[in-house]
Amino acid sequence: MRLLRTVAEVRTALKGARRDGRSIGFVPTMGALHEGHLHLIRTARDHHDEVVVSIFVNPTQFNDAADLAAYPRVEASDAEAAANAGAGLLFAPSAEEMYPAGFATTVHVGGPSERLEGASRPGHFDGVATVVTKLLNIVGADVAYFGQKDAQQLAVVRQMVADLNIPTKIEAVETVRDADGLALSSRNARLTAADREQALALSRALRAAQDVVTSANGTSASAEDVLAAARAEFAARGIEPDYVELVDPTTFIPLPAVDGDALVAVAARVGDVRLIDNLPLTRN
Ligand code: PAJ
Repeated sequence: MRLLRTVAEVRTALKGARRDGRSIGFVPTMGALHEGHLHLIRTARDHHDEVVVSIFVNPTQFNDAADLAAYPRVEASDAEAAANAGAGLLFAPSAEEMYPAGFATTVHVGGPSERLEGASRPGHFDGVATVVTKLLNIVGADVAYFGQKDAQQLAVVRQMVADLNIPTKIEAVETVRDADGLALSSRNARLTAADREQALALSRALRAAQDVVTSANGTSASAEDVLAAARAEFAARGIEPDYVELVDPTTFIPLPAVDGDALVAVAARVGDVRLIDNLPLTRN
């Protein structure tokens, strides 16, 4: 695997692949790679001739300086893990390479960015949209892979790519969880043993929501019933969630009931870590 630091190096490294019609898969990350990221990389490896992974802790998407400072940076072990999962190129630029002096553009996506994470973290999705636009333009991949774990980010990226005619196809990859249900996240490393137990409220809430939909047995479960079951899991552990919502997975507008595609999305602070999780609900 080759480690590349500059945009020019990426363009040169991929010129041959592009000329020869080799397909390029891309996995953007902020590093501290875990099995969730590696699942994205392996999925890309299974579908493409060339796999590019980026690691860039994007300062503009952090609205909390302490969170940015605490974000784990472990490039050497990440490089090894990415290579083992099938990455051929690792793009790990400096902040100056991505945001040189005089940088003056922000990509703002409306629609799905406006509620939930967008409301809780002002400016977050502008930072994500801007850096993802840059990364997609730099790599020029056929397909870029994003985790279902960050469902709203996925919706924002899909909206942006459609609106701006970015030619890279966006593919979603299912959320990877620990055996106990906790969705893998680089931030989980900051949970104490007691926090971890509490953090199970998120995945249990999602499962409880799905149970209500399953019990409705093909009829329409109301948002009220679905969300009450989910909220009960937080209450049982004494956690006040940031939000527990039933939304349309494309627009992130709240739904009154589970009639078609629906997503239950949750966020909560556990210890000093803010966790998010979601589950697409399936009607039987
Ligand atoms: P990061 O949090 O490092 O996540 C990189 C990719 O891994 C995202 O698409 C995310 O949804 C996916 N991912 C994280 N945890 C996962 C899990 N448990 N299962 C499956 N996929 C998982 O998301 C970002 O970085 C940044 O916002 C980025 C898109 C790179 C822009 O800076």
